[in-house]
Amino acid sequence: MKRFFKPALSVLLLLGLIGCGGGQAGEKVHTVRIGVSLYRQEDTFISLMANYMQEAAKELEQEKNIKIILTFSDAQSSQNKQNDHVSAFLEKNYDAVMVNLVDRTAAAALIDKAKAADVPMIFFNREPVEEDLSRWSKVCYIGADAAESGQLQGSLLVDLWQQNPQQLDRNGDGKVQYVMLEGDAGHQDSLIRTEAVIKTLTDAGIKTDKLATGIANWMRVQASTKMALWIEKYGDQIEAVIANNDDMALGALDALETAGTRTLPVVVGIDGTPVGLAAVADRRMLGTVYNDAEGQARAAVRVTCAMIEGESVESLHMDGNYLRLPYIRITRDNVRQYQTET
Ligand code: BGC
Ligand code: CA
Repeated sequence: MKRFFKPALSVLLLLGLIGCGGGQAGEKVHTVRIGVSLYRQEDTFISLMANYMQEAAKELEQEKNIKIILTFSDAQSSQNKQNDHVSAFLEKNYDAVMVNLVDRTAAAALIDKAKAADVPMIFFNREPVEEDLSRWSKVCYIGADAAESGQLQGSLLVDLWQQNPQQLDRNGDGKVQYVMLEGDAGHQDSLIRTEAVIKTLTDAGIKTDKLATGIANWMRVQASTKMALWIEKYGDQIEAVIANNDDMALGALDALETAGTRTLPVVVGIDGTPVGLAAVADRRMLGTVYNDAEGQARAAVRVTCAMIEGESVESLHMDGNYLRLPYIRITRDNVRQYQTET
């Protein structure tokens, strides 16, 4: 028992109990408080990330023998609200603030406030412009490479075109008639995914014909409303539905089901949320691209904790003050691997 309470320093090091303020035996357990400002808690992908952040914090508490308090606030798509929430975290002396920006161009003011309070600020999912991120050393961004997701999404369609062209080009005119559902206008993932997916088709020699494109702000209901109008206007001319995320792809499917469309167009999404994966498994979606909510959440919590304690983030494989996790292509061949057992 005695040895259990007073482990040798080497044992503590071995167990990773030192670092991030690791409490040594007998010491009061060290607490870190992290404020997390979400752009919109209702967003399917963001709520997934928030859950994974809680899990990651628990995991790290065990590993480092510390207490981590994550306090979430929901900006409900209002940059003013987010500014107030971040100010409140700083006034209450939180040890770090994680920010999922409402407006990507609003980072500078937040970074300046964090710098004045000397509190690390970790952005995730909605990427500040590079110039803002270089304002101070204790800021960073955790996310993924938007172009990669667009390319992988495009490759799903390219493969189908090469293997089974008549499934995509139903009217046989040698072109893909598509509609595009986009996320919010200012988001790096909307702009870049939209461009990259079409470029991937074009680079593969596939001709495209854009019937319609519309912003549905990542939301299932908005996408379904847009899609219902397009079904009325274009009917079965629509051969493919390309959505910047799974929720909007599912919204399109909702509209197709309501309209009673018998032969569904080819639908592709991005994210691999549980509902998105289910739609791939039951063949309503051709495929999706896995956006690693769990990996990004875990990395964000770990980097935050390391920054609070002034530890090196080297083992976390950052590239300067950026960390981007890879996307993964999901089709019905590998979808089961990504669906949780529940
Ligand atoms: C996800 C979307 C999500 C958005 C929120 C994107 O990376 O793919 O599903 O709505 O982030 O910022
Ligand atoms: Ca066609």
